[in-house]
Amino acid sequence: MQMGCRVSLLFFVMCIARAMSESTLLNNSIDAGWSQSYEQFLLANGVARTPPMGWNSWNHFFCNIDERTVKATADALVSTGLAALGYKYVNIDDCWAERDRDWKGNLRAKSSTFPSGIKALADYVHARGLKLGIYSDSGYTTCSKTMPGSLGHEDQDARTFAEWGVDYLKYDNCYHDGSKPQQRYSRMSSALLKAGRPILYSICEWGEEDPARWAGRFGNAWRTTGDIKDNWDSITLIADSNNVWGRFAGPGRWNDPDMLEVGNGGMSLEEYQSHFSIWAVMKAPLLIGCDIRAVRRETLHILGNKELIEINQDPLGVQARKIRSRSGLEVWAGPLSKKRLVVVLWNRSGSSAPISVGWREIGLSPFSKVIVRDVWTHSFVSKGTRFRLTAHVAPHACKVYVFTPL
Ligand code: GLA
Repeated sequence: MQMGCRVSLLFFVMCIARAMSESTLLNNSIDAGWSQSYEQFLLANGVARTPPMGWNSWNHFFCNIDERTVKATADALVSTGLAALGYKYVNIDDCWAERDRDWKGNLRAKSSTFPSGIKALADYVHARGLKLGIYSDSGYTTCSKTMPGSLGHEDQDARTFAEWGVDYLKYDNCYHDGSKPQQRYSRMSSALLKAGRPILYSICEWGEEDPARWAGRFGNAWRTTGDIKDNWDSITLIADSNNVWGRFAGPGRWNDPDMLEVGNGGMSLEEYQSHFSIWAVMKAPLLIGCDIRAVRRETLHILGNKELIEINQDPLGVQARKIRSRSGLEVWAGPLSKKRLVVVLWNRSGSSAPISVGWREIGLSPFSKVIVRDVWTHSFVSKGTRFRLTAHVAPHACKVYVFTPL
């Protein structure tokens, strides 16, 4: 235990040193608060050093979920190649349990939909090199009201999850006793730490009491907003809300703007590309929310963009932020490891337009030569650009570049 603490402390100090040196690139232009994001210790569970990646049942299946679907999804993650790209968590959301606990007060998987039980499901996904996530609530029932919440049963439920081999817990905020979320969420945090298995703890408090300010002490990710919807207004609104909390994110603890809608059918391909790009550079958990068993090629093309995934999983772990917005034409940027930057030109307006970024705005000297790579076309735009970069961007589309100063 003591050894574990020392290792965490060492990692924490290394993170500060690294973040401070690598973030100087952007300090002129972006609110110089990167290093403050390391004000808290890494959670002792040691997981989520990079944002979690995987799949969650809610955005597509809502309560219509059963073990056959979960198993087929795990298989599809592997056969599509998504698992190899990092999508490892197979997360069951609400509605997996019986309405009542057993006579010992334990949660029970719903026999009509999960007849083999959660342990068998965990074994199934583990055998494929994946991890299993589950869902509970810090109140008396979950949001669907179809199953119990964990309020007052935190230790018991955390032990159950650990015994079943669960690797991830999403913990919701419905039907509670009116007590502060800090109290309810910290109780499950301690319970998980005692349960004897590293379980990624995802706090789903919808951003109500500014969780970015406190949730990093208890969990590995926290929702910053209400529920996402499969439309443009929802993703732009959520991107802006999540952006505000950028400086609080870092290795082990992430702002969570909710799960991906890519592939669910409500947006155009350009809009889905923008959604995925902005989530990736904001270091959001990348939890696929569509039906992977029937995933279309164009959806796979977006979710499987290796270069964007690498940006999301960059070890520096700094959330990119909006640095300019004029008439719906936006520039987002953030530092990456090895003194690189990610720069997004995002056209939120209704017509095609040029968007331009000057070196000074992103903290570079105007004379520095930069290698610019477009991570959607997978090609180098230039091997030595100076001063500024301009691109024509289609409506609701974005360009994502990695800048490597020479
Ligand atoms: C809340 C959460 C959603 C989902 C549902 C399940 O609304 O924010 O992500 O988990 O509950 O009922």
